Amino acid sequence: MNRRYRKTVIAGNWKMNKTLSETQVFAEELRPLLSRSKWCDVVLCVPAINIPNAVRLFKNTRVAIAAQNVHFEDHGAFTGELSAAMLREQGVKYAIIGHSERRQYYGETDFTVNRKVHAALQAGINPIICVGESLEQRELGVTLEYIAYQVKVALAGVPMEKMRRIILAYEPIWAIGTGQTATAQQAGEVCQSIRTVIRKLYDARVARAVTIQYGGSMNAQNAAELLAQPDIDGGLIGGASLKAADFAEIINAANQET
Ligand code: 13P
Repeated sequence: MNRRYRKTVIAGNWKMNKTLSETQVFAEELRPLLSRSKWCDVVLCVPAINIPNAVRLFKNTRVAIAAQNVHFEDHGAFTGELSAAMLREQGVKYAIIGHSERRQYYGETDFTVNRKVHAALQAGINPIICVGESLEQRELGVTLEYIAYQVKVALAGVPMEKMRRIILAYEPIWAIGTGQTATAQQAGEVCQSIRTVIRKLYDARVARAVTIQYGGSMNAQNAAELLAQPDIDGGLIGGASLKAADFAEIINAANQET
C-alpha cells in the first residue's frame, strides 16, 4: 500500500452466497467490528437481489454496496440481466467486472469487459476490473504479457479523467477458492506490472493514484503480508468475507499497515 497516493480498498465478493436473513445477521455482526479508522474503504459485493436491503442495512457505515456484474447495454431484450442505471438507482457504488468465474461460466471476454466498464462509468458506478492468469499461463511464463493485454483491452477508450474511478483487481485464477494464495512477492510483482501498464497508457500521476487489489485465497492470516507490498492497495476477498469476524480482521489489517 502507499496511502500517500492512493486509496486502500477492502472488498468482499460474496458470489452466490447469503440469503437476506443471513445478510441481516452478517450486518449485525460486522457493524460493531468496523474500526473507526478511516484508512481503508470497505465494499461488499452482494447477490443482486439483496442489493436494496444491503444498502439499507449498511446505511451510515463505512461499507459501500457493490454489484458482482453489470450489463453493457443500458436497456433492451437481455433476459435476466441488470443495467448499470438500475443498479445505480438502488445505491450501488461499485461493480465487479470480468471476474474469472463470469469469464469461465458465462462467456465474458476482454471485449465485453471493456463494454461493461464504459456502461458502469456512464451510469456513475465505479468498476472493479478483474484480471488474472491461469496456472497454465503462469507455468508457461506469459503472466505479465497476458495481464498487460487484459488491462489494455479493459481500459480501451477510458479517458484519463475517468481513471480515478477505476479499481483493478489482480486475481490469479489458480489462487481463487483453492487456499493456494499467491506469495506476496508474486502478487506484488504482477500488481507492479499493472501499474507500469497504466503509466504507459496514461501517465505517472494516473498510475500512482490507481488502486490495485489482490484477490485469491486472501484471509486474516495472510492479508497483512500481501498488503505490505507497495503496489497492493487492498483485497478482493471471497471465502474469508463470508464470516464477519474474518472480514473485520482483514479490514483491520489494512487499517494498521502504514
Ligand atoms: P477466494 O477469496 O474465495 O479465493 O475468492 C477470491 C475471489 O474470487 C474474489 O473475487
